[in-house]
Amino acid sequence: MAYLIVVFVFLSLICSLGRAQTSADGDVVDCVNKYKQKAFEHHRLTNHKLQEAPSEFPTITESYKKGKWRTKEAQLSTAQCPQGTIPVRRDGATLTRTEPDSPSSTPGHEYALVSTKSPSKIYGAKAKINVWASKVEEGSDEMSIGQIWLTTGEYKTDNVNTIEIGYQVYPMFYLDNNPRLFIFWTNDTYKSGCYNLQCPGFIQTSGSIVLGGSITPISSFGGSQSEITVLVWKDPKQGNWWLSIGSLVIGYWPAELFRELGDYATTVEYGGEITNSLTSGRHTTTEMGTGRFSDEGVGKVSYIRNMEFVDYKNNLKSIEDLERKPTNPNEQA
Ligand SMILES: *[C@@H]1O[C@H](CO)[C@@H](O)[C@H](O)[C@H]1NC(C)=O
Repeated sequence: MAYLIVVFVFLSLICSLGRAQTSADGDVVDCVNKYKQKAFEHHRLTNHKLQEAPSEFPTITESYKKGKWRTKEAQLSTAQCPQGTIPVRRDGATLTRTEPDSPSSTPGHEYALVSTKSPSKIYGAKAKINVWASKVEEGSDEMSIGQIWLTTGEYKTDNVNTIEIGYQVYPMFYLDNNPRLFIFWTNDTYKSGCYNLQCPGFIQTSGSIVLGGSITPISSFGGSQSEITVLVWKDPKQGNWWLSIGSLVIGYWPAELFRELGDYATTVEYGGEITNSLTSGRHTTTEMGTGRFSDEGVGKVSYIRNMEFVDYKNNLKSIEDLERKPTNPNEQA
């Protein structure tokens, strides 16, 4: 009997090895055939032909002086999946975003961000975000985020489209306090769309990067800053919105997903967001970034630097016309 059980355990181990893997940060991931990933269940993507790579990258036109601070590109979590498959994190819970969750929205969400001043034709955005394990109220379903938003459309006309990328500390969902790489999109003012690969939409081409995986190391207080370099750009030939982090291409949002973002984005925003459920009538202990204000300087605060946009010629240009948006969304009209 014991012998049979051993054989059974052994067999089920072999069967599961084909699919399930453990990523570098200890998550369980499934290796999914890239042509059979969830994105292709989307009704607008049934005839979509998977693009292996972008047709071109944006041209770099700016050079930035090296700052006096030590910085390095952070590591993303990876998994060893067989050729032709992509790692898909097995989520601890399904994340839903039922309420508008963007810079002009609801109580419970707080922001500190800058935005391009006047609408223009934006074909992508880039920036470096330093990464922290931001504090989130224990036992709560709150989160803390540092991110980029590419948006178009308006709440008034109920046609907000967004592409969002950044890091997120969200213990209720990821089951730890690590900063995690996240992506999000919506094509209809947050009625549909989702995080990471939770719903059909984003097509992953990287066979190793885990969306929703931990980012390591975190920035060191007063020391070396650990950054992710986020770049999104619209493929000038195919119209898809590609995503790379550092030197790694992750995948793309197919042009078919969007109506408004089918052409270009009109606004880029950079900043932080937290949720605050005002438990016992007080602001909870959830912090944005390091929980410190910018006057404390690099090394102690969270920042986003080298902010650029992609113009209609697929050139990266630094953004000149940024304005601050109110920290508290209730202050907004
Ligand atoms: C938005 O996406 C959803 C689901 O992916 C789809 O059913 C809907 O038709 C889309 N809406 C628009 C306005 O493109």
